[in-house]
Amino acid sequence: MKRLISVVLLAAVILTACGSAVSEAPTETPLYRDPAQPVAARVADLLARMTLEEKIGQMTQVEKNSLPVGAVADYFIGSVLSGGGGSPSSNTPEGWAAMVDGFQEQALSTRLGIPILYGVDAVHGHGNLAGATIFPHNIGLGATRNPDLVRQIGQATAEEMLATGIPWNFGPVVAVVQDVRWGRTYEGYSEDTGLVTELSVAYLEGLQTLPSGYVPAPGQTCLVAATAKHYIGDGGTLFGSDSPSGYLIDQADMQVDEATLRALYLPPYQAAVEAGALSVMVSFSSWNGTRMHANQYLITDVLKGELGFEGFVVSDWAGIDQIPGDYYSDVVTSINAGVDMVMVPQGFQLFLFSLTAAVENGDVSMARIDDAVSRILWAKFLLGLFDHPYSDPAYLATVRSPEHLALARQAVHESLVLLKNENQALPVDRNAGLILVAGEGADNTGLQSGGWTLEWQGVSSSRVEGSTILDGIEALAGPESEVHYNRFGRFDTLEGVIAPVGIVVVSENPYAEGVGDSPGLQLSQTEINAIVNLRPQVEILIVVILSGRPVIITDQYPLADAWVAAWLPGSEGAAVADVLFGEVPFTGRLPYTWPRSSAQLPLNINTVGELRGCDGPLFPFGYGLGEAASEPIEWLECPAIP
Ligand code: GLC
Repeated sequence: MKRLISVVLLAAVILTACGSAVSEAPTETPLYRDPAQPVAARVADLLARMTLEEKIGQMTQVEKNSLPVGAVADYFIGSVLSGGGGSPSSNTPEGWAAMVDGFQEQALSTRLGIPILYGVDAVHGHGNLAGATIFPHNIGLGATRNPDLVRQIGQATAEEMLATGIPWNFGPVVAVVQDVRWGRTYEGYSEDTGLVTELSVAYLEGLQTLPSGYVPAPGQTCLVAATAKHYIGDGGTLFGSDSPSGYLIDQADMQVDEATLRALYLPPYQAAVEAGALSVMVSFSSWNGTRMHANQYLITDVLKGELGFEGFVVSDWAGIDQIPGDYYSDVVTSINAGVDMVMVPQGFQLFLFSLTAAVENGDVSMARIDDAVSRILWAKFLLGLFDHPYSDPAYLATVRSPEHLALARQAVHESLVLLKNENQALPVDRNAGLILVAGEGADNTGLQSGGWTLEWQGVSSSRVEGSTILDGIEALAGPESEVHYNRFGRFDTLEGVIAPVGIVVVSENPYAEGVGDSPGLQLSQTEINAIVNLRPQVEILIVVILSGRPVIITDQYPLADAWVAAWLPGSEGAAVADVLFGEVPFTGRLPYTWPRSSAQLPLNINTVGELRGCDGPLFPFGYGLGEAASEPIEWLECPAIP
């Protein structure tokens, strides 16, 4: 708030000065273009020069495929985004940079030359970019409990984004996920507020902090803008409650009192604000029936007022449309609630017209517009965009660099959680002799990467550049060993042969957002068959689970000697084999409570209470064998929970 007053006061002063300057047709460089000036003065000077049309343009974010040629310049658009899968026709770093720079050139050609801010969901590496380093999704990073690793991943992601000219990441998700039936569970670090807070701040700092030796533009304090999302309580919605998109739990209603909201869901935002987050994205969900995009108390009074957030608030994808009422009232309500930039993927002209009319009608004040625009300009100055608006080819070498791939492998190693290990199943002996491998997920980089990879919903083929778990097994198996692979676990040519070791990789098909909401979390019959088929053909059976959340394995658990949760490891799947063969120890611990049955859900550290035995989880939050050093669970034969 204090900054706003200073900016407005400065604007008033400069307006007077600028007013006289404008009539005298200034000859010198405008103050906002003077890199020697303080950012606050540059913001105020620029704000004072802007027309209403230019201001509203800054508050508008459009999806790149929805922009007619020249529209960025014609409508003074302030931001462009690539949605999930929104890559250019040439999906290379150079192709991305050319696309982004093209929009930037339009923006710089306008009267005031305000650069655009281009945004993308680089939520586990620059996932839309073919050939990017794809890190484990956040659920796996939650299992590492390693903030320093997560910070490095943030920085590596920022570098690969800058290789494509993009300085704004719609991440991290700071959801404190309370029900793993949610299709976005894997985007969350955990069900635990403290763990989410620690890791999301680490990632945010990795994205935003200027690396040592980096030469910033004048006034630049941030490398890539982070976005704490989705404000607030996206992971606390009630299964089956009202979701405007018709999802089972995504975008639904969080039904808690304010004390619970503040205790469970606010701490990650408070920490993100204190860490200097440049943006916060509003949640599609609602709180006790009020859609978040309409919640002035939480956005303006709490986030901006109480927490002192000085960045800008961006809506989610056409998120304001879900506010009850007609579009004009959606615009008025959301802007007055405190949304500063509206993500208008399609039909941006209607937004521009509606907000202009709202200001002219007095339904939205100019003070509110000036607050929103000054926040957006503030972020653009802190990113150095006025002084170096175009992509920097120096970052091209960082894409899938050896350093980034090594970091990704380390993240995979530390994310694996050992759930069961009997009969000395693990580590696998490199000279075991015959090793049978089954399951489509064993040899499919798409399945191991999950959603937000090349496409919004991810891909279920090996289109992702990288290595598979099978690649890793074949690389580590000794010269005396033979590796055979069959996705169904059928090795008819080995009739009657009992192999020393069998490894089945079970996997979920990729999904994103509400598309992944699931009532049951069961393994597919194909996955179950692969386990059942392989069991009689091997002495030792190991099951590796590729999933975006805990899945129900209770019935199959006794069939295998070892179980490993591998989550969604990303492009470097071979690193899973490093841990299976004992090259690296198991250190991961569960970031989510693992249910015995989906009938127990929601089941988490806040609901498990005294539930134990057959009424309790299969594995508790924090569980992990190997160096994670939990005591192995006591296996119980429990009646099926209805
Ligand atoms: C999506 C998601 C949000 C994402 C945005 C842009 O609907 O909810 O997390 O950043 O749209 O892709």
